[in-house]
Amino acid sequence: VKVWPLGLCGLGIVGALFETPREKPYIFILSGNTQGYLSPCGCTKPMVGGIRRRASAIEALTRGGVPIVLENGGLVSGRARQDELKAETLAEALKLMGVTAINFTSHEARLGRGTMLSIARLSGDRLVSGSLAAPPSEIHAYQVEAPFLIGGATTHPDTLASALGNRPVAVDAAVRKLVEEAQSSDLVPILMLEGSRDDARRIATAFPALALIQYQSSGDPPGDLERIGTTILASAGDLGKHLVRLVYDQGRFSTYSVVTLTPEFHDHKSVSAVYSRYLDRVGAEKLLESVPRFDTAPFAGTAKCGSCHAKALKVWKASEHAHALATLEKEGHALDPDCVSCHVVRIDSKQGFRSRALTPQLANVGCESCHGPGQAHALRPKQVKLPKVGQSMCTSCHNGVASPAFDFKAYWPKIAH
Ligand code: HEC
Ligand code: HEC
Ligand code: HEC
Ligand code: HEC
Repeated sequence: VKVWPLGLCGLGIVGALFETPREKPYIFILSGNTQGYLSPCGCTKPMVGGIRRRASAIEALTRGGVPIVLENGGLVSGRARQDELKAETLAEALKLMGVTAINFTSHEARLGRGTMLSIARLSGDRLVSGSLAAPPSEIHAYQVEAPFLIGGATTHPDTLASALGNRPVAVDAAVRKLVEEAQSSDLVPILMLEGSRDDARRIATAFPALALIQYQSSGDPPGDLERIGTTILASAGDLGKHLVRLVYDQGRFSTYSVVTLTPEFHDHKSVSAVYSRYLDRVGAEKLLESVPRFDTAPFAGTAKCGSCHAKALKVWKASEHAHALATLEKEGHALDPDCVSCHVVRIDSKQGFRSRALTPQLANVGCESCHGPGQAHALRPKQVKLPKVGQSMCTSCHNGVASPAFDFKAYWPKIAH
């Protein structure tokens, strides 16, 4: 288990040594901004993140304590059919992870009312937001998990409200209501915020009674715990790669650690079952067949190119590119538009890859993934020249998410032909 304890962790351990046995501490697990990255993201090994590991990590990290699992929304970033399926899958997985509350943000709202109803049901009725003036019964003002009162709010209440045909509540008004409700019922107010670190800082200054503000951020979570007065500010970063763990004991937060979801966390059994049902739905709904495509010149196929370029074909056959589709088949993702786009020849083209059965010559990352459509050249090579391939061709697939370690100088020699 890879846990990097940071910040105040030392204090928590020392405190525990000198105390008599008492009630279990609360262990907070913060997640959010998954943006649809349900499976480990970053195709370079080791792949990091994913909901199957997240579930077993939460089990391991909350042992010996009372878990409080806070999901700060941003389940998906798009609004296509696949995003609906992902949001539902994540909601179902979060229920298995024992989620305490889910901030219902503008990202979820954009998927519409139907998806809102299903994620409310699948998550076990855990949605919260204080940013709607007349919230539907599925979205609660808060969740009470004594001694905490957990609420959600967004700095974009207009977007949230208009997506649901509702009226917005300004963020400060929403937070004020949470704090007042907590004070009147003697609970500790916790805020999940669809908003940035700067927004969180401003709100922490304006509402010093808040014990914790969980905000949204991109990239890795901050290495250190941030405090403004007695308010803790934290975020789990994005793309489902990390969790933040905090311990609440004796009326205060005492430890902070960022946990990266590396392969040391095994795939959780029942979340894996939920995940394979998701992949089955992606296949059954034939989402790959409905990706947007435009017209290009026709392709010849890798075998045809290789019939004249024997040396290039030999190098290609020995490269990872030659089995890129098989890699997805092994992972159960061969019908997933999210993945296939970079593992075959051009699914953005009407003339490009369709399926192994229909277009076997365009399976895997073939010659024409890089050189472009080449049938005209294959027919009349002396007359029709192919354009030069630049390095930017590589980074259309070897981008920061899929191939963070990509470096042309190191990678090109492995496939030079
Ligand atoms: C159409 C998408 C795509 C393009 C364009 C592309 N690649 Fe790749 N590349 C992949 C995929 C997918 C894999 C992994 C295949 C697998 O392992 O199944 C890969 C793997 C590789 C590997 C093997 C990595 C390793 O771990 O050894 C090298 C080297 C490589 N690519 C170099 C390049 C270079 C250089 C370029 C540009 C000239 C390039 N690729 C362009 C998709 C692409
Ligand atoms: C943006 C393009 C892109 C997308 C989208 C993409 N991949 Fe990849 N994939 C790559 C590239 C590039 C590599 C090679 C990375 C490297 O070696 O640096 C790769 C490698 C892999 C590998 C081999 C890793 C290893 O070294 O063993 C697996 C497995 C994989 N991808 C699965 C997936 C899955 C599953 C999805 C969808 C959830 C996906 N990929 C989506 C580009 C992509
Ligand atoms: C991963 C991307 C990629 C793949 C796949 C790929 N190539 Fe290339 N190829 C390049 C790059 C980059 C060059 C360097 C010259 C350039 O920029 O055009 C090159 C060069 C060539 C050249 C020499 C061009 C010259 O000017 O001397 C030939 C011929 C060629 N490739 C044929 C093929 C054939 C045939 C295949 C399939 C069997 C293939 N390539 C697969 C990227 C690729
Ligand atoms: C019928 C044989 C034949 C086929 C099929 C063929 N090529 Fe070529 N290719 C050639 C010849 C011959 C040249 C050299 C042309 C010249 O020097 O005038 C060439 C040149 C190239 C070059 C260097 C740039 C250029 O256009 O001169 C690249 C890159 C290339 N081929 C890639 C491919 C790819 C990719 C395919 C498949 C789509 C392919 N070739 C199919 C015969 C072929």
